[in-house]
Amino acid sequence: MKIGISGASGKLGAATIEELGARGGGHQIVAISRSPEKAGGSVEARKGDYDQPDTLADAYAGLDRLVLIPSADLRPGVRGAQFKSAIDAAVKAGVQHIFLLSAAGTREATVPALGESYWTGEQYLIRTAPHWTILRMNYYTQSMIDEIMMSQGQGMLAGLGKDRVAYVSRNDVAAATAGAVLGEGHAGAIYNLTGPEALTGQDIAAIASDALGKPIAFAAISEDQLRGGLGQAGLPDFVLDAIVDIKKTFVEGYFDVLTHDVERLSGRAPVSFRDVLAATKP
Ligand SMILES: NC(=O)c1ccc[n+]([C@@H]2O[C@H](COP(=O)([O-])OP(=O)(O)OC[C@H]3O[C@@H](n4cnc5c(N)ncnc54)[C@H](OP(=O)(O)O)[C@@H]3O)[C@@H](O)[C@H]2O)c1
Repeated sequence: MKIGISGASGKLGAATIEELGARGGGHQIVAISRSPEKAGGSVEARKGDYDQPDTLADAYAGLDRLVLIPSADLRPGVRGAQFKSAIDAAVKAGVQHIFLLSAAGTREATVPALGESYWTGEQYLIRTAPHWTILRMNYYTQSMIDEIMMSQGQGMLAGLGKDRVAYVSRNDVAAATAGAVLGEGHAGAIYNLTGPEALTGQDIAAIASDALGKPIAFAAISEDQLRGGLGQAGLPDFVLDAIVDIKKTFVEGYFDVLTHDVERLSGRAPVSFRDVLAATKP
């Protein structure tokens, strides 16, 4: 089987290629990105830019299965259009089964909401692809750990209220994706890739305090306060909006989804937040 990974130069793409390789089976893996020289390592690498649909025809030629990893482009409306271009190109190239990495809690949304891209991508995939599987990621454990590291100085983690998130390690998302791509019986399924537990802001602060050996508290602040703080960092408006959007979805329960899908697809239990933090801390 010939399997393409679009978004292969990124962290999730690289980890997915590693997981596919570790599972053996003699499959041909094709690493696809705008910068093929950064992708692939020992596997075939091809250029494919979601913003240049003509590059995608060659990138997806001859593939049996394709994993679409979203780009990190947070500009409103961009990722939804990228998903549509990629799905069109894959279907035209004759790819039989497309696996889309989406986000937990995806529901109908319009531009400029961050979730619009995932809703657009999922709906277009379902309508268009011969066979499809959707893998909805919870929030990366590693992204929250980055936030903890940045907040250490102030000793405070901020949220917009009472939140609960089933943080998932990026490596577990990669392992589950590899399991789904190499497995059978996943067509037409929507999976929720979550960690082993749903944690509140207070839980995270307590785990971080323990692991780092210094007190870190969780504080619920207003949207204006969050915007004000982020604004001081000089972030562009669309990045600021995206961060606020994510924090709102935390409180609205989008990421409060707990399943056994990681283990079901990867064959191993997901790693806990505490263990990922222990392995990451400097
Ligand atoms: N669930 C979460 O908590 C969470 C958190 C952060 C991000 N995400 C999403 O998950 C995705 C994967 O995570 P990651 O950690 O692997 O991110 P990453 O390391 O930033 O990788 C992003 C990938 O997108 C590719 N890309 C960017 N623009 C592209 C374009 N126009 N056409 C084709 N490929 C393009 C990049 O490749 P080249 O630049 O080489 O083309 C890279 O391979 C992110 O892009 C983001 O959408 C999820």
